[in-house]
Amino acid sequence: MPNLKLDGLRVRYGAILGTDGVGFELASGETLALIGANGAGKSSTLKAILGMVDYPEGSITLDGRSLKGLRPSEIVRLGIGYSPEGRRVFPQLSVYENLKIGAYSRDRAEAAERVERIYAYFPRLKERARQNAGSLSGGEQQMLAIGRALMSRPSIFLLDEPSLGLAPVIVERIGDILREIQAAEGLSVILAEQNAAWALAIARRAVILELGRVTLTGPASELLENPQVRRAYLGI
Ligand SMILES: Nc1ncnc2c1ncn2[C@@H]1O[C@H](COP(=O)(O)OP(=O)(O)OP(=O)(O)O)[C@@H](O)[C@H]1O
Ligand SMILES: [Mg+2]
Repeated sequence: MPNLKLDGLRVRYGAILGTDGVGFELASGETLALIGANGAGKSSTLKAILGMVDYPEGSITLDGRSLKGLRPSEIVRLGIGYSPEGRRVFPQLSVYENLKIGAYSRDRAEAAERVERIYAYFPRLKERARQNAGSLSGGEQQMLAIGRALMSRPSIFLLDEPSLGLAPVIVERIGDILREIQAAEGLSVILAEQNAAWALAIARRAVILELGRVTLTGPASELLENPQVRRAYLGI
């Protein structure tokens, strides 16, 4: 199984730094939480992995091979799936059509099989297969965004702020499904989240980002006990 490694990742938007030297490793089959406040650099980190930012500095490697300079479509073909912040489903297309878009790197038979798999994880999507994505609730749209990203059957899944704006009961439901998918597919996941309590409950390990830098990293169970983390991110 692949191993993703970042070292000294610096993302620039003109004079603004999106990240300022981020480094961490994603082990095979693990769920890693990437925790930080607004503007900490979570999305910039995920976008850099997927080849969506210009000229990142530092290294991004998958099994020792550099991903820098590859197009996002090439990176998806190497087995990395991405669900962006804000979900970005196509509101005028049906649930089914949105899922099909996620399968562009697969042939028809594989895509058909994969849709059924995604429906098994998210029965709600099957019920609403012919509805426009724009008519779904926020939680259902989030499920669709996750399902679409998983259509390519990635081995690494980059998931940006799935809990944003959703009711706690829906967030819990999505967490349960993520655990199920992770176990069934042996996926490695990077879960970028402001909702630290939730992310730390799902992930085995976590990286804390502040102002574009890694300030803490360790097992989720240890970070949950860390006084600094409790004060800054858990409000206790
Ligand atoms: N396209 C852009 N142009 C200019 N600056 C940007 C751009 N995208 C992000 N930034 C800046 O880069 C820094 C990191 O932003 P990023 O979106 O990576 O943070 P984040 O941790 O994902 O935050 P949030 O939790 O709000 O999504 C912030 O200062 C942000 O304002
Ligand atoms: Mg973000």
